[in-house]
Amino acid sequence: KSTFAGLDLVSDEFADTVRSSLQKVEDLLLSELSSGDDVMTEAATHLAKAGGKRFRPMFAILASQFGPRPESDDVITSATVVEMIHLATLYHDDVMDEASMRRGAPSANARWTNSIAILSGDFLFARASRLVSTLGPDAVRIIAETFAELVTGQMRETVGVKPGADPIDHYLQVVWEKTGSLIAAAARFGAMASGATSDDIERLSKIGDIVGVAFQVSDDIIDISSVSVESGKTPGTDLREGVHTLPVLYALTGDDATSERLRELLVGADGGSRPLTDDAEVAEALELLGSSAGMAAARAKLQSFADEAHAMLSELPETPAHKALSSLVDYTIDRVG
Ligand code: FPP
Ligand code: MG
Ligand code: MG
Repeated sequence: KSTFAGLDLVSDEFADTVRSSLQKVEDLLLSELSSGDDVMTEAATHLAKAGGKRFRPMFAILASQFGPRPESDDVITSATVVEMIHLATLYHDDVMDEASMRRGAPSANARWTNSIAILSGDFLFARASRLVSTLGPDAVRIIAETFAELVTGQMRETVGVKPGADPIDHYLQVVWEKTGSLIAAAARFGAMASGATSDDIERLSKIGDIVGVAFQVSDDIIDISSVSVESGKTPGTDLREGVHTLPVLYALTGDDATSERLRELLVGADGGSRPLTDDAEVAEALELLGSSAGMAAARAKLQSFADEAHAMLSELPETPAHKALSSLVDYTIDRVG
């Protein structure tokens, strides 16, 4: 459950190494999230127990393979800290988004209350802070900076694009801050903890950054192009919520008939986004977007991220971890079909 699809593509021996490190992360995560108080323990471990891909810990563990000490306890600590920060943001995100489900389970705010969800997120952040202190002041500074980026991305998303600013630049900036920054930190942490060279630390962090943004863009494409049985999600969710993702933003800039009709459907009288409530309109928008130039542009952007990540990877030594990272990049691209 806590492993990642990309791992099946490398040798059994290497997969076992990664899996055993991920198990240690799992154990540390649950012990760090336990409190003397029953209610706090139950709420704070709720999302960790609900599942999740453990994508960030895996990235940290893969990055650690490029240093001389991948077996170091600091690698496990680093991977765990990053997952705890991620989980903390999810508790708060579900309150802000009024989300009722997360990872196939009720969100903490739905299961309990907003107050309990907010306090649980704070508790996770407190425990992550305590744990990261054992890695030294550099690690504390990196996590503090990353956390500020995450929150700034969330603020930017909440406020929306400023008048006159490019909505595509705004979108990519938010995705970088909300997703890229923490995956970049995961890679940086894993590589630092195992003593990788500073050049390799920078390369791995950059790959984390690109993969994070690419993963979000692939999610956006899937929301438009998927058949729901394939992705396990309902297509058009973003359109119903009035969220304009990258394919939509590109499609809205066109001057053909498709773009014209999409503007009628998706842009309100005030120039802001128009959430779709009518099933027929959702179906029409999905149909138009599927074959639009905007969709092609988003796919091209995704491919350019993959090319950039592979170029960065080519500067790292050929190891089993190299192959795993490479297949992970391909997985991010291939899942859009
Ligand atoms: C998911 O986005 C949310 C994030 C990636 C993190 C955003 C950052 C915060 C909520 C700040 C948290 C602050 C504290 C103090 C813990 P999404 O809503 O686009 O994705 P989803 O589909 O996973 O909900
Ligand atoms: Mg959300
Ligand atoms: Mg959100």
